[in-house]
Amino acid sequence: MRKKVTVVGAGNVGATAALRIADQELADVVVIDILEGIPQGKGLDILQDGPISGSDSQVRGTNDYADTANSDVVIITAGFPRQPGMSRDDLLIKNYEVVKATTEKVAQHSPNAILIMVTNPLDAMCQVALRVSKFPKNRVIGMAGILDSARFRTFIAQELKVSVENVQAFVLGGHGDTMVPLVRYSQVAGIPLTEMMDAATLDRIVQRTRDGGAEIVKYLKTGSAYYAPSAAAVEMFEAILKDKKKILPCAAYLEGEYGVQGLFVGVPVKLGAKGIEQIIQVKLTPDEQAALDKSAAGVRELVNVIKV
Ligand code: APR
Repeated sequence: MRKKVTVVGAGNVGATAALRIADQELADVVVIDILEGIPQGKGLDILQDGPISGSDSQVRGTNDYADTANSDVVIITAGFPRQPGMSRDDLLIKNYEVVKATTEKVAQHSPNAILIMVTNPLDAMCQVALRVSKFPKNRVIGMAGILDSARFRTFIAQELKVSVENVQAFVLGGHGDTMVPLVRYSQVAGIPLTEMMDAATLDRIVQRTRDGGAEIVKYLKTGSAYYAPSAAAVEMFEAILKDKKKILPCAAYLEGEYGVQGLFVGVPVKLGAKGIEQIIQVKLTPDEQAALDKSAAGVRELVNVIKV
């Protein structure tokens, strides 16, 4: 029997994630939204893509959490996206309410699910989901690092005119302006990035990576990025579904790792059937640790505002 995934939020990120999962025949998909008709319509549309993409995944849209019951994985994308001029943190209060309400329902109907969080501000929303669901920490995981490192990899590959597949990059920290692209652990075909690029070019790329989301919001005007974000969420989903033990940068609840206590921050984790199966710890230089501490402090501020 195919596994069951629920995507909460049938907006840009949610619907695109549902489409990717169905197209790759990874699982049966339930899409749920607060809006009536939207998840049903989009679900039916994605289902009818099946004969063309060669997928027998069942897809349905609903407004009723009963239809989501016993999902193996739930991807939460419900909430408001950014508008031009907004930071992810500006979404805090509005999306706190949405994530709280949706997670409560999800936990009630799918008590054994693994949660992949996408709603921003990501790290704080992960904390909300952990507290509300009362799930163990290995079953609440945030999508940010894969997206941030994909942006970093894209810009590096463009600059060097090489395949994106040659570029391995590493981004730590919160999904925000203080994210920490780790140049020292980034490589091009095994060659340290610092051998391939001068410091000024690297700095420019690091800054563009930090502003990667805002650059897109500025163009779109009415919302934020969704193709790469949905691809990143589906990569996490696939690693869990196939028990791949894949090491990916994700937001994880830290209890002392990297010197961070009781907070979600982006770090490399091993993803498999149990969700987060290991937090990979690497040695950081004092500068890198300071950047990570600063990023974690930013997440802590948000978490303190909503008191979770
Ligand atoms: N329950 C279910 N769905 C909800 C709820 C709720 N309580 N509140 C809002 N939604 C739905 C909206 O109706 C909408 O369909 O969430 C969807 C969000 O879709 P978009 O507005 O298209 O936003 P999207 O681009 O998908 O981004 C969603 O992901 O990347 C983050 O920052 C982004 O926080 C944002 C989230």
